[in-house]
Amino acid sequence: MSSKPEQKTILLAVSSSIAIYKSCELCRRLKERGANVYVAMTENAQKLVSPILFESLSGNAVITGMFSNSRQPVPISHISLSHVIDLFIIAPATANLIAKSACGIADDWITTSLLATTAPVLWAPAMNPQMYTNPATQKNIQILSERGHHFIGPFIGTTACGEVGQGRMAELEIILEKIDILLTKNKNLTGKKVLITSGPTQEPIDPVRYISNRSSGKMGRELALEAIKRGAEVTVVSGPSVEKLPYHSNSVYVQTAQEMYEQVLKLFPECDVFIASAAVADYSVIKPLEHKKKRTDEALLLELTPNPDILGEMGKRKNEKQIVIGFAAETNNLIENAKEKLRNKNLDLIVVNKVGGEKCAFGSEFAYATIITPDGIENEPSLTPKRELVQKLYDKIEELLKKKEAI
Ligand code: C5P
Repeated sequence: MSSKPEQKTILLAVSSSIAIYKSCELCRRLKERGANVYVAMTENAQKLVSPILFESLSGNAVITGMFSNSRQPVPISHISLSHVIDLFIIAPATANLIAKSACGIADDWITTSLLATTAPVLWAPAMNPQMYTNPATQKNIQILSERGHHFIGPFIGTTACGEVGQGRMAELEIILEKIDILLTKNKNLTGKKVLITSGPTQEPIDPVRYISNRSSGKMGRELALEAIKRGAEVTVVSGPSVEKLPYHSNSVYVQTAQEMYEQVLKLFPECDVFIASAAVADYSVIKPLEHKKKRTDEALLLELTPNPDILGEMGKRKNEKQIVIGFAAETNNLIENAKEKLRNKNLDLIVVNKVGGEKCAFGSEFAYATIITPDGIENEPSLTPKRELVQKLYDKIEELLKKKEAI
């Protein structure tokens, strides 16, 4: 199973970059997700933001130096704290702190704890782009990476000094995603390639109108995230969706079912698991109009043609090691319809969702769903958070992969 920041102890070390304002929010977001957060600040960081702010946000005394002078006593010493934490994050991380750590210098609380910790270490650098690309910084990052430290960013953009280049601290969503990955102990999908279709497709009528459906892409996003957390290499072929795909997936964007089909055809031979969660439009307009259709009082007839059945085609093409999974959105006869689809499309598993009504699949965090394999029904249909459903699904996928490997 995967774990989230809840009930985890996280040490957030903060050094002096203007990006420190993002770390206040990072601290708040980690707390909101249930983590126990300790904040440590370098001396210079304390000139930018008062430790009192981090104390209020984290609910814990802030570590301001070797001989901390906090309003509340720090409950544990630097050595013991660095031993009990689940994750050590340095955000923002300056070139100076990275350099000291690469050299094994331990001249303040943070660098001393970095030497003492056995927890995973995640750096989110933020600095002037010239400082970042300087060979000294690059070498130090390489040294730390080789020692198993993790880095996220920096990203290209305008930095606080007004220069444009690679120096901006990673956005919080990306840092939080990386934290989830690092906190997940189950890495059973390491070395596996998972291919996912996600979101709706749009079939043009004319340059401004299209046929589509209410799929939000939430399920595809959750499916991608969980596979990434378990160590898989994930590619998502996504139709137009407001839902942002995970940063750590390879994302391929398409508009129509035909484009989705072409991308999946290319990527399928390499994958170990194919999950078709996209709500692919079943029909497209035979000849979309070149110019915008003007309103008239006449009835308008659109001639439609069936789109390729992506899932059905991959079911036909799969080899004995590949797993092909479908989703079904049904309004009635859930189990019978799903079982038929499982057979007809040669699937290893199908997830059937009830659609329509409150909290039912489209755009919701919940799904009224059942997992079915050729061996039977895994769970009676019930209203489940999509995240939980996805975890159940990957537990089953791990089981199926093991079975196929044994063949
Ligand atoms: O037959 P139905 O459209 O209900 O099947 C739904 C499943 O088939 C979903 O997994 C969906 O992603 C997939 N599908 C597909 N290509 C289509 C239509 C549906 O891959 N053209």
